[in-house]
Amino acid sequence: MQTPTTATQFDGTRFREVLGSYPTGVAIVTCIDESGRPIGMVIGSFTSVSLDPPLIGYLPMQSSRTFARMRAAPTFCVNILAADQEALCQQFASPAEDKFAALAWHPSPAGNPVLDGVVAWIDCDYASVTEAGDHFMVLGGVLDMALERDTAPLLFFQRGYGRFAPGPLVAVAERETIEAVRLAEIGRDEMEAVATELNAECSIVAAVGGDIVYVAVDNSSPQWRLRSRLGFRVPCAPPLGPLFVGQPGAPADAEWLRRLGRPDEETTARSLAQLAQVRARGWSIALMGPNDGENLDEMVQLYSNPHRTPGQERRLLAAAKERAGLHEPAELREDVAYDVRHLSVPVHGEAGQVVLVLRLGALPAGVHLAQIHLWLARLQQAAARLETTLAARPQLLRA
Ligand SMILES: Cc1cc2nc3c(=O)[nH]c(=O)nc-3n(C[C@H](O)[C@H](O)[C@H](O)COP(=O)(O)O)c2cc1C
Repeated sequence: MQTPTTATQFDGTRFREVLGSYPTGVAIVTCIDESGRPIGMVIGSFTSVSLDPPLIGYLPMQSSRTFARMRAAPTFCVNILAADQEALCQQFASPAEDKFAALAWHPSPAGNPVLDGVVAWIDCDYASVTEAGDHFMVLGGVLDMALERDTAPLLFFQRGYGRFAPGPLVAVAERETIEAVRLAEIGRDEMEAVATELNAECSIVAAVGGDIVYVAVDNSSPQWRLRSRLGFRVPCAPPLGPLFVGQPGAPADAEWLRRLGRPDEETTARSLAQLAQVRARGWSIALMGPNDGENLDEMVQLYSNPHRTPGQERRLLAAAKERAGLHEPAELREDVAYDVRHLSVPVHGEAGQVVLVLRLGALPAGVHLAQIHLWLARLQQAAARLETTLAARPQLLRA
């Protein structure tokens, strides 16, 4: 193997091309210069270095005039840019004289600029500055740090900007969603009739790309002033989506369990028992919990955003797991009043596969088993009618 030794022997274009195939985040390192003015530069080479002691690092060009000025200050602050801050990055990467003109920022505890809207900031002092070819290698000792915004960071790759995309939301899932919406249109009349008759929210949900998606919603509930759940999605992971498990567009049993990470034996046993329960009953039920409410709705809303972060994804999975005891109770007693979160029944295609689920929600609280059975019977009647309609139009399912 030949080792390049000088700049002329070495292909700089190839170096940039190869190294550009590795993505980075984008940060703006800031400080206050000797004359008291805020200064900063864009850095793609930022990295975490050590936890004990806490150190971060970045690599400024030796020729950078901004870094030459920054070095004179005792501390600096690393601002991690959010995915919607590309314009800010370009403003700082430009040779503009005053990059802070008309910019909103506030001082960090060490007095360095924290730019409005960044994901996080890290105040540091200089642990060391070492020469590294045409760059310096700066090690920063972490003084203070904070997360500012629960949002995805800006990414840089092949000289272009982009953002992180969560796994299951690929283009094919979008096509599947459109197909499910088209299918749900056929059930709209049935869904609206149920909602009006029962003064409740009736929805049609579908399994798309590993998620359960609300593809049609009608809300006639007088006491539940809900934001529409249309387009909302939740992960098909225990205890959610049992009617879909093993069906087209949804995970198989083992995959459904795997979405919990490494569940303990108790969680695995409970999830499998719930799955068996739903399959034996042919319907699914979830009860209200004492800690439901705004917080849970907000988590579902964040998960439903195509630009959700892995952290937001994990938080919803954890909340669902925490509430697992409220799903599919093994026994429903006649002498107990229940607060039902939702009741769901499957809609089958001709081959017996589950193609959609009809779901009833926004129901009055404190009802007895007889009422639950009445609701179920009405939902099942609507599902049966929908199955007849679908059977008469088989081309819809073959799309
Ligand atoms: C996405 C991106 C990443 C960058 N990363 C670095 C870096 O890691 N180190 C560096 O010295 N310059 C980096 N730059 C370039 C500097 O931000 C900028 O060109 C430099 O501050 C200008 O030099 P000056 O300080 O002499 O004005 C990056 C620019 C962009 C757009």
